[in-house]
Amino acid sequence: MTSPTIESILQEKRTFAPPAEFAENARIKSMAEYRELYDRAAADPAAFWGELAEKELHWFEKWDKTLEWEPPVAKWFVGGKINLSYNCLDRHLTTWRKNKAALIWEGEPGDSRTLTYAQLHREVCQMANVLKQLGVKKGDVVGIYMPMIPEAAIAMLACARIGAPHSVVFGGFSAEALRDRLNDANAKLVITADGGFRKDAIVSLKIQVDKALENNAASSVDNVLVVERTKEKIHMEPGRDHWWHDLQQGASADCPAEEMDSEDMLFILYTSGSTGKPKGVVHTTAGYNLYTHVTTQWTFDLQETDVYWCTADVGWITGHSYIVYGPLSNGATSLMYEGAPRPSKPDAIWEIVEKYGVTIFYTAPTAIRAFIKAGEHLPKSRNLSSLRLLGTVGEPINPEAWMWYHKVIGGERCPIIDTWWQTETGGFMLTPLPGATATKPGSATHPFPGILADVVDLEGNSVEDNQGGYLVIKHPWPSMMRTVYGDFDRFRRSYWEHISPKDGQYFYFAGDGARRDEDGYFWVMGRVDDVINVAGHRLGTMEIESALVSHPAVAEAAVVGKPDEVKGQNVVAFVTLESDYTASDALEKELKQHVVDEIGAIARPGEIRFSDDLPKTRSGKIMRRLLRNLASGEEISGDTSTLQDRSVLDKLRGGA
Ligand code: WTA
Repeated sequence: MTSPTIESILQEKRTFAPPAEFAENARIKSMAEYRELYDRAAADPAAFWGELAEKELHWFEKWDKTLEWEPPVAKWFVGGKINLSYNCLDRHLTTWRKNKAALIWEGEPGDSRTLTYAQLHREVCQMANVLKQLGVKKGDVVGIYMPMIPEAAIAMLACARIGAPHSVVFGGFSAEALRDRLNDANAKLVITADGGFRKDAIVSLKIQVDKALENNAASSVDNVLVVERTKEKIHMEPGRDHWWHDLQQGASADCPAEEMDSEDMLFILYTSGSTGKPKGVVHTTAGYNLYTHVTTQWTFDLQETDVYWCTADVGWITGHSYIVYGPLSNGATSLMYEGAPRPSKPDAIWEIVEKYGVTIFYTAPTAIRAFIKAGEHLPKSRNLSSLRLLGTVGEPINPEAWMWYHKVIGGERCPIIDTWWQTETGGFMLTPLPGATATKPGSATHPFPGILADVVDLEGNSVEDNQGGYLVIKHPWPSMMRTVYGDFDRFRRSYWEHISPKDGQYFYFAGDGARRDEDGYFWVMGRVDDVINVAGHRLGTMEIESALVSHPAVAEAAVVGKPDEVKGQNVVAFVTLESDYTASDALEKELKQHVVDEIGAIARPGEIRFSDDLPKTRSGKIMRRLLRNLASGEEISGDTSTLQDRSVLDKLRGGA
């Protein structure tokens, strides 16, 4: 782990108060109101969340105990009975929301679909019955590997309805990556599609599923449910593969929601860490439901008439919490888009905002930087006046991108919420509340009420204002991950031991450095572990190294991030070859493709540098810090006295 430094931090002084008109109508209207909530929550977090759980959610049975905390094990709403799919659907059907749009879907080659709450409920019940018919029982894990089509959300809600934890795997992951995740989770069934449309191309998902299951002795998958989307020709394995549209025909639309224990597993979602294979982050039912519900409502200042659009993919936590569960639990209208901006249709995003009158728009800094590059004439030629709130997530946003977003997209009238959180946290940890918080470009501002965040040193002492340190949370919150699937010890080691517990105080730490300024604003400085963030996607350098080393030509590999104007970071791999191979452009291409096959296109190295040796310490550890300097073309910084062989650096520099 590198220690956070504050060398490169911009001293950003601009502040933007919430526009008066926005604040007047907002759910939380002032800093005084935020402080009152924050202080009340901090004084007694369990009482604070208990009150909200009672007010905001439907329970089949009330809980006995709001919080049991035996670090690092937290149990929320112990003894309660609840169902997330019920909270997202059934309870809206007895209100006028029955015929309100739940999902508005914009498909790629021009098709679109709107599902009301009643229609969505119907399809979810049908799919839930089909899953049961295919032998899925409460507690069985279901893999979901889908394009961005309504059936992806339907599949998630159907699983939640019958108590089958889902494990969604992003449709951009390769067959290899899918296989690892399905095997690790012991998935019984996979829901997929023949393919999906993305950036003018077809992604052949079913072919990847076939590859993942082929010659896979460890597989526990008995059935594959296939949604027809692209109509391309695919193989259907008799007895194993079933078309959704065939089974849907005979499926009843009556499927009562299973009464789940609060702490029953809701889903697994794999994410990258600094060591080993991706971790299966486990979330449970009630706490996740409550936290995503309340954060969606307050942070997006949700109003009944909003048209809310989050551009993430359901394969990531942002899609889980803030396309599907948070918005639907609140009875909101959530827009889903199958595609992505691309050169052939550079203003697709603004066209959709205009077409549906989107009011809340939530995206990633990497997308904003791509919009800037595409030119402001594109958004300017559209009517974006429906927008009232903008948000960002996924990586630190640079103040220039923030200002562009504010001026060009927000017309200087929309507050911007910069939300810091992680797969592990389930929901927003640091975020402005748009009617209350004065924002500063590049700062995620303050903790959400109930979140006791701090910046500390390795001993757990709070650091001084404007000093870099480790960003930690000091009290459990309802949507905190509960464990790493199948590996509790890894959960403890990965998140609770970097900062040593002291006097009964435990510190949740998951990899980010931060500083707090003299006004109490948090500035997230990025990962301090071996995780890199490429176009908002979280990648473990070790995963990419393992992928490279699994190629016969590669003896050793070290991967680092290099700053990139649009993607935030780009993957640079330093590779030494086995003796009977020589470096060539063809080999470079082959290795890049090999990483795509092993992990997926999101991990494709931007650059591969061949070298005879890598800089190592005397004890043989690769000195990534030096490689980061080299990749960025910077001067070598810091101490090099532990380097085994200095000439390696000179050679690498020469070759750069
Ligand atoms: C980074 C995505 C700065 C951070 C929700 C974190 C951010 C990782 C922000 C989690 C932000 C996310 N400002 N950095 N607003 N949001 N990050 O699990 O490094 O895919 O640890 O969850 O993204 O990525 P994950």
